[in-house]
Order: sequence, then C-alpha cells, then structure tokens
Amino acid sequence: MSGSAIEVKPGIYWVGAIDWGLRDFHGYSTELGSTYNAFLVVDDHVTLFDTVKATHTEEMLWRIGQVIDPGRIDTIVVNHAEMDHSGSLGRLIETVHPERVFASPACEKALKAHFHYSGWPVHVVKSGDRLNLGRRNVSFLETKMLHWPDSMFSFLEEDGLLISSDAFGAHYASSERFDDEVEAGELMHQAGKYYANILNPYSPLVLGLLEQVRNLGLRINMIAPDHGVIWRKDPGRILSAYADWGAQKTREKAIVVFDSMWHSTERMAEAVGQGLLEKGVSVQVMDLHGWHRSDVVTELLDSRGLVLGSPTLNNGMLPRMADVLCYAKGLRFTGRVGAAFGSYGWGGEAVKLLNGALDEMKVQRVHDGLRVQYVPAESDLDRCRELGHTVAKAVLADSR
Ligand code: FEO
Repeated sequence: MSGSAIEVKPGIYWVGAIDWGLRDFHGYSTELGSTYNAFLVVDDHVTLFDTVKATHTEEMLWRIGQVIDPGRIDTIVVNHAEMDHSGSLGRLIETVHPERVFASPACEKALKAHFHYSGWPVHVVKSGDRLNLGRRNVSFLETKMLHWPDSMFSFLEEDGLLISSDAFGAHYASSERFDDEVEAGELMHQAGKYYANILNPYSPLVLGLLEQVRNLGLRINMIAPDHGVIWRKDPGRILSAYADWGAQKTREKAIVVFDSMWHSTERMAEAVGQGLLEKGVSVQVMDLHGWHRSDVVTELLDSRGLVLGSPTLNNGMLPRMADVLCYAKGLRFTGRVGAAFGSYGWGGEAVKLLNGALDEMKVQRVHDGLRVQYVPAESDLDRCRELGHTVAKAVLADSR
C-alpha cells in the first residue's frame, strides 16, 4: 500500500485505494491504472461516501484507520452500486456496523440484487433530500443513467464539495490526489478517454444534468469523482469539457481507422489521410494492429470525420475492425461524417459492410465507398486522395 489518507478539506479525507495494475476495465484499456475514491467526513456523524473494489478493502480500512477507528463510522452513503465502488460494502458493514446506509431508490434495488442482504440499515434518499451530519449538510441529486440508473451526487453544502460518483472521473492511478498536482494535458486526455468510453452514450443526459446543476445554484468549489484526481484548482475546466463533449462538439479533424492484410488497405489509408491533410483537416491515421478500441473512440471524441478501411476476409471485414465497430456503435457518437474503403481479391464485401456500419452509427456518408482489387495502382491512390478531399469538404462544411 502506498500513500496516506489525504485531507481534501478540513475534516474531509480521501481514504480510497490506488489500483496501479489495472489494465482493462470492461474492454477499456486503462494504461495508467485507476483509483477508487472514498471520502471520510469526520463530523458529529462520521460518514463514509462510497467504498472501493473488494480487492482493495484492506487498503481502504488502513487509510480510514489513519484518521479514526473505522468503528466510529455511523453513516455510509452509497452513490453508485457498481462493484468498483460497492465491492467492499459487505465487509465494511460487518466491520463497522453503521447505524444507517443511504442510497438512491434505484441503488437500494441494485444493492439488494448484488448482495442479497438482510438486516442492512439501508435508507432511500431522493433528489433534493438533505442530511445533517452535524456542522455540515449534504444534499443529494439523483443522476439517473450517468451512468447507471442508481447513480447519485452528494453535495456537501458548507464545503462546496461535490462528490460526483463516476462523473468527471478518469482512470488515472497516481500518488497525487489533485488536478493541480498532475500534468494537465495527460489529465484532460484521460478525462476525455473516460468520457468517450463510459459516458458518451448518455451525452444528452450530461447536458441536462449540467443545466440542472446550474439551475440549483450549487456553489461548487471542488469536485471529487470516484476515479482519478480531485478537481481542486479548476473544477470549471472539467465542467466546461463535459459541456463540449456532451454537445458532441468536434473540430476539423478526421480519423482514418483501418486494418490491412498485405499493406494494400494500409496504402489506401495513407492516401486518404494525405487527401484530408491537403485540404487542411487534422488527421490521425490509426492502424488497428497498434491502436486499441478504447483509444480509437477517444480520438473520435473530438473528430468530425470517421473513415473506415478494411480488406475483405471470408466475405467479411477483418476481425479487429469488427471489434472496434461493435464497441463504437454502443457509444452512440453523433454528428459525424465519413466514408469507407478497402482492398479485396474477389468478393469485396467489406466496404459494403463498413458502409452498413457507418449507417447504423448514423454517420453521414459522403461517398459510396472505394474498393481496389489486390494492390492499388497510382491511379487508385489518386482516387483515395480524392476520397480524402470529399470527406475533408464535409468536415470543413460543418462548423459546429
Ligand atoms: Fe466506477 Fe460505474 O463504476
């Protein structure tokens, strides 16, 4: 175990866990690991907000023990039932015997379905309910489907501290606990990756929630998510990024995502990328031999253009491309333009399938699709550059 309990505000401590070795989160590559954040408030009612993954229970109890005897916890707030935040709950309840556990109505149901408990002192709280801990009050805001039906925010009113569950988080293991202590570019990249891979399907709800928070007039001066660092210096930065991502705001950028067998589709991809560049569009050419699906969708987060390339294999597309499309479809990006291309030997079905996938993702196709038999000639590469020009025109025409 490394690192102490950290006082994030007077009387409020981070007592979570650092999962340095985590490299996969449901298919999302977590190259920097993650943290499971839990917050201990020492007040008349000693209260723990959220817990950690079961594997890290001892680590959390050790950190709590640096502040108080864990047996003094009388209140637990469960903002979200997913096991990375509730996995240690059973052991914790057995250890500390809290007087009360608070959860949203959907979270109470989810906790029952996860733990099949009897005798836990679970009380339901809804949006607008308030809880007095002694010197401070907590108000609750249900954030349904951000990203589970049970998700909830807890706002410590006197402290201006929003404990935001999964929202505004990042899978980012570090010994530092605050936004101003880590490299800003890496932090925003990881926060964007987290949004693209987890929250993007719920973007309309994100916009609704931001508006709701504005209308409530909450005086937030710190945001503490359940993963990654705490937004102490600039909580406005992550709120503003969520407003952009929620609105599916993109820039004049296209990604060319491809897989290749004998370098023909690869050469086509490079020519398409060249065509985009010639028209002034920022490009990322992404060979699926090296790019992970979760990094592809991260690049798509601010990219207006999506161009797909695959050769035909056994009447289909290459399996890495099928993997990426299965994943990306569920994340429901909107407002993109795109096209497809690929080499083939005889059947040539892949481009048709890629077109179908673009249609299913509601990407506006600006080209019928470009196929080249076997190995592209110079004239074929010219056609690829022209396809790049066509996509670039659509990317530049959309000024959202
Ligand atoms: Fe980090 Fe939805 O759990």
